[in-house]
Amino acid sequence: MIDDVLPAAVLGAETFGDEPDGWLFPEESAALGEVGEPRRREFTTVRHCARRAIGALGLAPVPLPPGTRGAPRWPDGVVGSMTHCAGYRAAAAARRAEVRTLGIDAEPHAPLPEGVLEYIALPEEASHVARLSRRSPDVCWDRLLFCAKEAVYKAWFPATHQWLGFDGALIVPATDGSFHVRVLAQRPQPAGVPVQFTGRWVVRDGLVLASVVWPATV
Ligand SMILES: CC(C)(COP(=O)(O)OP(=O)(O)OC[C@H]1O[C@@H](n2cnc3c(N)ncnc32)[C@H](O)[C@@H]1OP(=O)(O)O)[C@@H](O)C(=O)NCCC(=O)NCCS
Repeated sequence: MIDDVLPAAVLGAETFGDEPDGWLFPEESAALGEVGEPRRREFTTVRHCARRAIGALGLAPVPLPPGTRGAPRWPDGVVGSMTHCAGYRAAAAARRAEVRTLGIDAEPHAPLPEGVLEYIALPEEASHVARLSRRSPDVCWDRLLFCAKEAVYKAWFPATHQWLGFDGALIVPATDGSFHVRVLAQRPQPAGVPVQFTGRWVVRDGLVLASVVWPATV
């Protein structure tokens, strides 16, 4: 599923359950701290996926502790992203020389809880979701919008070190598995960051998965 939303330069790894033989480096365990078992399992399994992804790039396993604002710290020369939700964990990684930043997000493919769309969507996005829902009712467009926004933020933050709120970008999904993103005015506007770009999405097996990849040349 992950490969459906990634270009060739990005290597993905996914799993639909927790890995019994997943393990953490001591610095990852220390960064995680005292948490419940479900959180330990998702944190461990997604790093197992991430080590598979960087292994596919030809790199040895390294610690991937959380850094600033929870963004994972990738090895020098590598960019990547991680996601987990019920029944799914995935990571994606690429060489910094080819990809500037990337974000992935997975969500259960179900309508958002009452009131959430109003909270996360710009008026134009909400109207578009309503139109798409009438036209293609098999897709939970509200959840897809949310998923795309999270993927945008996961790509945005490591590249800019700036917060981007739900109203910080206008996202327009299309029925062909793409979505268009227009970043709205930011203060300060980060230098050299694209104002418009596209992402990809897929719905399958009860999940929605979205990705955003900025090539190194943007
Ligand atoms: C950070 C955020 C995107 C995480 O999304 P989520 O759906 O809750 O969680 P997921 O399980 O898919 O992803 C969690 C993983 O994202 C990664 N992550 C966390 N913070 C991150 C950040 N600031 N930048 C990049 N990646 C981050 C981590 O790898 C984390 O897993 P880990 O803690 O086990 O390492 C979300 O909590 C958030 O803060 N959203 C608000 C900002 C936003 O979405 N703006 C919309 C812009 S249009």
